[in-house]
Amino acid sequence: MGLDMDLTASADDGIWTDAEPLVCCAVVPEAPNTATFSFVSPSGAQFSYDPGQFLTLELPVPGGTVWNTYTISSSPSRPLTIAVTVKAQAGSVGTRWMLDHLQPGMKIKAIGPAGIFSLPRKEQKKYLFISAGSGITPSLSMTTYLYDRGTNIDVTFVHCAHRPQDIIARQRLEQMASRVPSLKLFFIVEEDDPYRVWTGLRGRLNQLMIGLIAGDYLDREVYCCGPEPFMNAVREMLIALGYDMDLYHQESFTAPVKEEEQLPEHDDVIPDEEASASIAFARSEVTADCTETDTVLAVARGAGIVIPSGCTFGVCGTCKVKKTSGEVHMVHNGGISEDDIDDGYILACCSKPIGAVELDV
Ligand code: FES
Repeated sequence: MGLDMDLTASADDGIWTDAEPLVCCAVVPEAPNTATFSFVSPSGAQFSYDPGQFLTLELPVPGGTVWNTYTISSSPSRPLTIAVTVKAQAGSVGTRWMLDHLQPGMKIKAIGPAGIFSLPRKEQKKYLFISAGSGITPSLSMTTYLYDRGTNIDVTFVHCAHRPQDIIARQRLEQMASRVPSLKLFFIVEEDDPYRVWTGLRGRLNQLMIGLIAGDYLDREVYCCGPEPFMNAVREMLIALGYDMDLYHQESFTAPVKEEEQLPEHDDVIPDEEASASIAFARSEVTADCTETDTVLAVARGAGIVIPSGCTFGVCGTCKVKKTSGEVHMVHNGGISEDDIDDGYILACCSKPIGAVELDV
């Protein structure tokens, strides 16, 4: 799965799969309410993924299990460990549990890696990475990957934080930038840290700043990650500047808002609200009646069957299950590969049964 540089294969091709749990090997505080958790595999298998992909972690919080999706902050060029950097927001349950309880030596189940937000294979390009808050993680992974590859890195890295103390992995980035002149770092903060001098940029990223930071931004491939309003503001800014949006990529764990004309065209069977359907969960020996407009995930929940889920709109791949017979109508957002579909897998959150369906669940 790695890119053109295969640093990820071990001699016996022992590549980690999510059938094996992860063992936490390090917890590093990065900023207030933010830490990097690194993991190894118990078997010694190495990690293969594309920079920018994510993992879904199964977190045993009080009261039940939650599945949270986190972008991988480590780089596949360093395949012995895999890391996520998480920030607890007010009201976070799973991330709060990680910060308060997850310690080196503890085992945790993960699903993935998955996701299509990544660098193009092979091509050497000029990049403009734009991030805010914990949305720095994919840019961090991509930048480390390009740095480790060692040639032709041309990255302008722009990160927006509330205060300087909130900038995640600042030293790691500065260490890389100090050795590669074509990696340029720009941090923009809204407020200074108390009693600390800040000599970087202040305010919010705007058209004037982007021109000063990267005069050649029109030639750069933009990767953007951060809270939805931030990404919307960046998109609008770039559109207003005449940027070619075919070169724009953004990561998001919230449902994409589709324009009428962007809605997928269905050339297969359309679910019928009136039509009845049924789903047999073969391993659980449960069959549930439903309609063709119910999702497999909702029917499973109603029948008391747990299918792990994360995003619930077809991006993260957490809810992948094997279909053994019948047809479903699936409209996903990139969370499943064509190979998996050919092998009979579906995403439960965005698949609706057409008639009688049987699953290996
Ligand atoms: S829960 Fe994320 S793809 Fe179904």
